[in-house]
Amino acid sequence: MPYILVSGRDGQLGNELKDLAPAQNFDFVFTDKDDMDITDENVLKEAFEKYKPAFFINCAAYTAVDKAETDQEITYKINAEAVGLIAKQCHEFNTKLIHISTDYVFNGKATQPYKTDDETDPVNYYGYTKWLGEQLALNNNPGTIVIRTSWVYSSYGNNFVKTMLRVMKERKEINVVSDQSGSPTYAKDLAEAIIDIVNSQWSIVNSKDVNPSHISHLTSHVFHFSNEGIISWYDFAVAIKEIKQLDCVVHPIPTTAYPTPAKRPAYSGMDKSKIVNDFNIQLKNWRTSLEDCLKLL
Ligand SMILES: NC(=O)c1ccc[n+]([C@@H]2O[C@H](COP(=O)([O-])OP(=O)(O)OC[C@H]3O[C@@H](n4cnc5c(N)ncnc54)[C@H](OP(=O)(O)O)[C@@H]3O)[C@@H](O)[C@H]2O)c1
Repeated sequence: MPYILVSGRDGQLGNELKDLAPAQNFDFVFTDKDDMDITDENVLKEAFEKYKPAFFINCAAYTAVDKAETDQEITYKINAEAVGLIAKQCHEFNTKLIHISTDYVFNGKATQPYKTDDETDPVNYYGYTKWLGEQLALNNNPGTIVIRTSWVYSSYGNNFVKTMLRVMKERKEINVVSDQSGSPTYAKDLAEAIIDIVNSQWSIVNSKDVNPSHISHLTSHVFHFSNEGIISWYDFAVAIKEIKQLDCVVHPIPTTAYPTPAKRPAYSGMDKSKIVNDFNIQLKNWRTSLEDCLKLL
């Protein structure tokens, strides 16, 4: 069976992919910093030489958005430079790279969902390095598929949903920002979409009569994926409270009342029509997916 090399095994998305892997017709090799540090070119080379993977799924990233403002050197290395190194190896070994990026490449001034080719203009250092990572992934390996996603949560790792559950159990009242809107993404849904894309790309690679619509699959590079619906962090918190039937009172507050080291885009809704049309992916409503995840927590 062909190999799929995955980085960021211990993160939210890496863990969700790990759950899906046994049912697939590929040999997955899951790695994290301890066994394949993506910032180390020699380590990457060794892994590519050993497995000659058909796919590389890059789930590794520096995702601490506020800390990234001060930890700039390591953020740059992981989110930008290392992605360039991975893409270089992918090009050399004819490996299809699936790289995950973020809604934070946009400045948030839009009033309707961002299309994949809309102008990028990150407003914080994390977003800037993720944008650089996209450029390096595409420049060093033109066949890369970049999937931008947003507001990721899972039963694994640390995220907004788990933080809200904890603080709502500890406190009677909490304040949550209501003037930043975007779309939550259950990492399990994203993992399923990635598997669909892998299978679709693999069938094209192995198809004897590649037709023009298939070629466009291989040449469209940037996609958006999240759950359906655009909400505020406040709406998200209220839904968590309602689904889990918690007594805590949730108050809406403006961003100005909750200053953070990194600026956030006020609006980061993304147009997902390209991923839906090109890969026939069904998007789930944000609340349905939240209910699914909360059953595990
Ligand atoms: N979380 C979100 O809300 C969000 C939103 C939009 C886009 N995204 C993107 O979605 C992707 C997956 O995010 P996630 O939430 O699953 O991230 P995550 O939970 O933070 O996981 C990232 C993983 O990468 C690992 N890693 C860090 N540096 C590494 C290195 N040098 N070599 C190998 N592995 C390394 C981390 O290990 P350590 O924990 O030990 O550092 C961690 O296991 C990322 O590209 C992220 O930028 C996430």
